[in-house]
Amino acid sequence: MSFDRHRRLRSSAVMRDMVRETTVSKKDLIYPIFVIEKDDMKNEIPSMPGIFQLSLNLLHEELKAAYDLGIRAVMFFGIPNEKDACGTGAFIDEGIIQKATRLSKQLYPDMLVLADTCLCEYTDHGHCGVLDDHGEVINDETLPLLVQTAVSQARAGADIIAPSNMMDGFVQAIRAGLDAAGFYNIPIMSYGIKYASAFYGPFRDAAESTPKSGDRKSYQMDPANRLEAMRELESDIAEGADMMIVKPALSYLDIIRDVRNNSNLPIVAYNVSGEYAMTKAAAANGWIDEERIVMEQMISMKRAGADMIITYFAKDICGYINRGGY
Ligand code: PBG
Repeated sequence: MSFDRHRRLRSSAVMRDMVRETTVSKKDLIYPIFVIEKDDMKNEIPSMPGIFQLSLNLLHEELKAAYDLGIRAVMFFGIPNEKDACGTGAFIDEGIIQKATRLSKQLYPDMLVLADTCLCEYTDHGHCGVLDDHGEVINDETLPLLVQTAVSQARAGADIIAPSNMMDGFVQAIRAGLDAAGFYNIPIMSYGIKYASAFYGPFRDAAESTPKSGDRKSYQMDPANRLEAMRELESDIAEGADMMIVKPALSYLDIIRDVRNNSNLPIVAYNVSGEYAMTKAAAANGWIDEERIVMEQMISMKRAGADMIITYFAKDICGYINRGGY
């Protein structure tokens, strides 16, 4: 016989465990939470079962649930009471994210808080920066507002700044602003490879951040482009990014692999809202095995090269792991 016997290494569960190349563990997970600036609210997002817009006065329950399951990294998104043309709510010290960050650090000092640094949840037009008379986002005038946002988030106690608005030069500007404010030890996790994707639909309902007019194609990337992702990567490395996010994840696993092969930075896959919604909807219909599908998706992101995963499934996954399933 002159063929290879691959099945030798698949002969038992113990054997398969021993040769398994990729694992998912709790420390890989970052859990996003939506915080709303109104009291006593816990609104489930219709397209994202199990995910809520939560009031600050109820946030401790969700933080406790996450912490007790073993989650050690959370990311807050804010739904402010007031919006304006330049997104003031993003960078005031009494902003909803700043309050949520302070609360979280007070209750669970060892749980990392990641700050999504963007303006779209706080602007009345829903775009990620300030607009000119023609409705175009003005890159260079947006940068100082992002810097202010990042510095106020760091002042509130954020452990990692994750700028997501896709302005050119945002990593450099934020790095300089953080350093000048004394936050030279706060890392930047850049969402520099972020595609203009329909997979963000459920998030925009949750965060109430759909643009009032137009779309985000003049600043987020064209899903057809792969080399462009490498150009974004090169700029962000040169500008001082400490970690790199690829977003969305599942339709972009080739890009995650490209980043892995072209840099030495820790890589983060953002398993976005539409990916969550699709899986949950199919599972609710009984069409798929939710746990197995979720874990196969997570493994695929890690196998593609991701070190960490931002995912709305974080609590579910901890539950699976706690039951001894993985
Ligand atoms: C902020 C931001 C968005 C998401 C994360 N940060 C929305 C967008 O860019 O339109 C989407 C996340 C998701 O879909 O889960 N700009």
